[in-house]
Amino acid sequence: MLDLFSEDEPWQEPLAEGAVILRRRARDNADALYQHILSISAQNPFAYRITPGGHRMSVAMTNCGDFGWSTDSRGYKYSEQDDQNNRKWPPMPHLFRSLAQEAAREAGFPLFNPDACLLNRYEPGAKLTLHQDKDEKDLRQPIVSVSLGLPAVFQFGGFERGDSAQRILLEHGDVVVWGGPSRLRYHGILPLKPGVHPLIGAFRYNLTFRRVH
Ligand code: SIN
Ligand code: FE2
Repeated sequence: MLDLFSEDEPWQEPLAEGAVILRRRARDNADALYQHILSISAQNPFAYRITPGGHRMSVAMTNCGDFGWSTDSRGYKYSEQDDQNNRKWPPMPHLFRSLAQEAAREAGFPLFNPDACLLNRYEPGAKLTLHQDKDEKDLRQPIVSVSLGLPAVFQFGGFERGDSAQRILLEHGDVVVWGGPSRLRYHGILPLKPGVHPLIGAFRYNLTFRRVH
């Protein structure tokens, strides 16, 4: 049979200037990525943190790499250790770094070298309200986001919280890269719908790679 359109290859969908979805780009690495997520969270468990406004986040978080992102009643920050246990974050696995760098290169950011990876775990109902990623020093470096497990609706907006936002379904293996003129766009995740993914179970995981220092 003539294969007119192969569904096996990842494909690109532009989102905005400097922003692109690399559909299914991480799918073939999903198993190995998931094993790393389990091993990182065995070293430093996912936790529900408290925002400066006093709310418990519905997304559970941990980190790997030289720096990790966290929030508490005092504010948001990057630090070299988790101050819930005073331990350094687990190192960033080679596979994480190489995938993030390759994805960034394909999106037009050949010099990306992440020093931080935030791991987000969503359960049904968990959401992330619209926000900007702006605690990083060098905003010329993009953000690379890798989605695994249950699908979720990603909001990708403008430069003010109230600007209208695109809604995009992110599925298992999808990678989003935003940088350049899109680096400070507001983005978020709508409440996760329940389901069971064959590899990941009843969760969605998202890895976001950043250059912090
Ligand atoms: C984030 O904005 O840090 C995560 C976005 C996502 O979960 O896709
Ligand atoms: Fe973000």
